[in-house]
Amino acid sequence: KALICATALALAAATPALADCDDGEVVIKFSHVVAEKGHPKGEMAAALAERINDEMDGKACMQVFPNSQLYDDDKVMEALLLGDVQIAAPSLSKFGAYTRKLGLFDLPFLFQDLAAVDRFTESDAGKSLLTSMQDVGYIGLGYINNGLKQFSADKPLLTPSDAKGLKFRVQTSDIAQAMIEALGANAQKLAFNEVYGALQQGVVDGQENTYTNIYTQKFFEVQDGITETNHQILTYFAVTTDEFLDSLDDETREQFLSIFKAVSDEYNAKSAQLNEEAKQAIIDAGGTIRTLTPEQRQQWVDAMKPVWAEFEDEIGKDLIDAAVAANN
Ligand code: LMR
Repeated sequence: KALICATALALAAATPALADCDDGEVVIKFSHVVAEKGHPKGEMAAALAERINDEMDGKACMQVFPNSQLYDDDKVMEALLLGDVQIAAPSLSKFGAYTRKLGLFDLPFLFQDLAAVDRFTESDAGKSLLTSMQDVGYIGLGYINNGLKQFSADKPLLTPSDAKGLKFRVQTSDIAQAMIEALGANAQKLAFNEVYGALQQGVVDGQENTYTNIYTQKFFEVQDGITETNHQILTYFAVTTDEFLDSLDDETREQFLSIFKAVSDEYNAKSAQLNEEAKQAIIDAGGTIRTLTPEQRQQWVDAMKPVWAEFEDEIGKDLIDAAVAANN
């Protein structure tokens, strides 16, 4: 019995305190798949809840469920439509079933850094994407940035030929799959919470993600090393449903949207720093990070960029051009 109590206490300590919602408050459940701390999305979600629970007390109450505790990113989309949760923030790679336009963000070597992503997402073209899934009932509240992605594998990767024949976990994105196949490697789509186990058991040989994900999920511990390719951006869409927004009275909706905007702006400005810290933490923990010479990096560009042509029609050339222009 004592043991059960100790276990229950340990679990309680590991689980974040959920806000207690009062009768009459609109309950806003935000479900996501990443760590609460040291992660751009996890920290943003926690800060959003803190401000809503403080400033909208009596009107609204936010509860955050991190770490795939409630749903993975596929299931959460159904849960939104059922009204079981009100906010989710899957990466832009995961909306292919609802719109092909957001595949834009998966084009390898599209954005050179987060500043370019911000310029694009704040442009008319970027904002127009917020309503790209309205026919299904989803509406984008805004973008949450993570950062650029790096490759890792169970052997050193310096040139694309090192990746040949390996199996890489990818997000549920046809573009990510095509990009991996362009390397002569195999892609396996897996939910985020399955990646560590798949790497550890050798179900896949490698993966690609940001430093904050590689560090907080401990992927580096079950890989030979990480190669700093900066090959693709990881950005999220905070989504809700029209039905939920319409259910709020005007004042509550305005206040909620304005707090969302303030918190996402504040946290988007911190994501690059969080990824730098995660990179350093990986090095401090004994992980290996390999950097590429300009010639080696060009080989990755040459191998993967041809996938743009394959997806240009479904994404739209105007959108791609607008994103490319944001690099300058
Ligand atoms: C992934 O599946 O790799 C990411 O989308 C997870 C996340 O939310 O950062």
